[in-house]
Amino acid sequence: MNDPYVIIVGSGVAALQLARQLQDAFHVMIITKEDRRKSNSFKAQGGIAAAIAKKDNINSHVKDTLEAGCYHQQPEAVRSLISDGKRIIQRLIQEGAPFDRNEDGSLSLGMEGAHSRNRILHCGGDQTGKILMKYLLENLSGNVHFVEGEMVYELIKNNEGRCIGVKTRNTKEETKHYYAPYVVLATGGIGGLYSSTSNDSTITGDGVAMAFLAGAKLTDMEFVQFHPTLLFVKSHTKGLISEAVRGEGAQLVNDRNDRVMETHPLKELAPRHLVAQKIFEERQKGREVFLSISNIADFETKFPSITKLCLDNDISIKDGKIPVAPGCHFMMGGILINDVGATTVEGLYAIGETAASGVHGANRLASNSLLEGLVYGERLACFIKNSPYERVPTIVKQDDCFFGVKEIPFTLEEFKSLMMRNVGIIRSESSLNIHWNWLQSKQLSLVENLGSMKRIDIQKYFMWVIGMCITTSALLRTESRGGHIRSDYPDQDLAFFKKKINIERIENEIRGEICEQIETEIYA
Ligand code: SIN
Repeated sequence: MNDPYVIIVGSGVAALQLARQLQDAFHVMIITKEDRRKSNSFKAQGGIAAAIAKKDNINSHVKDTLEAGCYHQQPEAVRSLISDGKRIIQRLIQEGAPFDRNEDGSLSLGMEGAHSRNRILHCGGDQTGKILMKYLLENLSGNVHFVEGEMVYELIKNNEGRCIGVKTRNTKEETKHYYAPYVVLATGGIGGLYSSTSNDSTITGDGVAMAFLAGAKLTDMEFVQFHPTLLFVKSHTKGLISEAVRGEGAQLVNDRNDRVMETHPLKELAPRHLVAQKIFEERQKGREVFLSISNIADFETKFPSITKLCLDNDISIKDGKIPVAPGCHFMMGGILINDVGATTVEGLYAIGETAASGVHGANRLASNSLLEGLVYGERLACFIKNSPYERVPTIVKQDDCFFGVKEIPFTLEEFKSLMMRNVGIIRSESSLNIHWNWLQSKQLSLVENLGSMKRIDIQKYFMWVIGMCITTSALLRTESRGGHIRSDYPDQDLAFFKKKINIERIENEIRGEICEQIETEIYA
């Protein structure tokens, strides 16, 4: 292939949307550490929210998004996400994207938590991600080249501090360097840092860690969303039971048949963080929690993926009860970007869950994430197409030395279970300090030579870096808001309203700063 003009790291919906919008004009390289189907987008059961029903409108979708996000957003950014999203979805419908329809041919629009209207588009019931991603993949041309099985582990910057390329490591531990004027991170979130997660196992915050190490600002890292309902079998979570199941009327009950969400006016459709917190507290009291689904007609037809997931784990749908527990689902924070995806490092862009676009606030509204990927993928494509054509000077390619290999001194299991216990659904100063001290005890620094590590150790090192960033932010926000719940500060604090915690690397230190308002000093 010709040298790429744009390198995209990651292969989820934001990456494919960007590639598809650029492919007529430029060569695009998509680099993914396993294969192109290993992404959270591919696994998405819940659908895409868009205010396209006659009785719906953009204002109502904006209001629901702001409310779920605890108003920790810039309202204009939310409005443009919702209105651009609606336009993009309408175009996908016109193009023939396979959204589910009712018997009369109209679009079937589902309900999910904290939405005030039925506005969720699905494909194949609960197979939205898989079907949408297949559709997007099938529509890519030969101008889009996939590099699979290579893990990007470092961003290459030139002497002026501009990002000009990436270094990768394949499964044989061989290193390659790729160069392009635009480097885009679309590596998804951080679910793989926690022992309970709905995320694909490959999703470990690589893009966020690399951007941070390269000097990019992060923000909102304390806001981590836990999905209330993951299938829970033999003390382990096994995969997502979509919120759409509650949208169809499933109720949350404990093993005494008490309704868990009885006291909330929205019952099972209350905002996600509240439902997750309630289930967590119930389980802390020693109670098991179930989704009672006996009132849902044709469950198997409506939810084929969930039915299969249950059967694979010996849970019979016919019993009418699915055991559930919360797990890490979505990162609201990430790499600070502007409205087109530019980060604070020139030449480096971020889109999708990797990026902190600010639209989700302290807690993302259900089914707004595929929407964000579609919107920011398109926006960045427009920006690149309208920017002057430029090429970065080629640099002599040098392979990293691989002597004196450094091993990271913890196991993945140990790391994930400590994140879950100390920086999980409910945090406190003492749990966060325990975690901070544990991370420090590993005697790692921010200037490690990644070239001297094996792929598995680079992976663990990235997790360590993100662990530091989340713990730093979570300690600084001494209040509870959205996905950040502190047992020692259980209420929202007006003093933190609209304040951001930015995280930055200064030499070998992590600096966390409480900022008055959203940063605007971003390269464009
Ligand atoms: C779900 O299906 O419950 C997840 C949807 C989402 O996170 O937007």
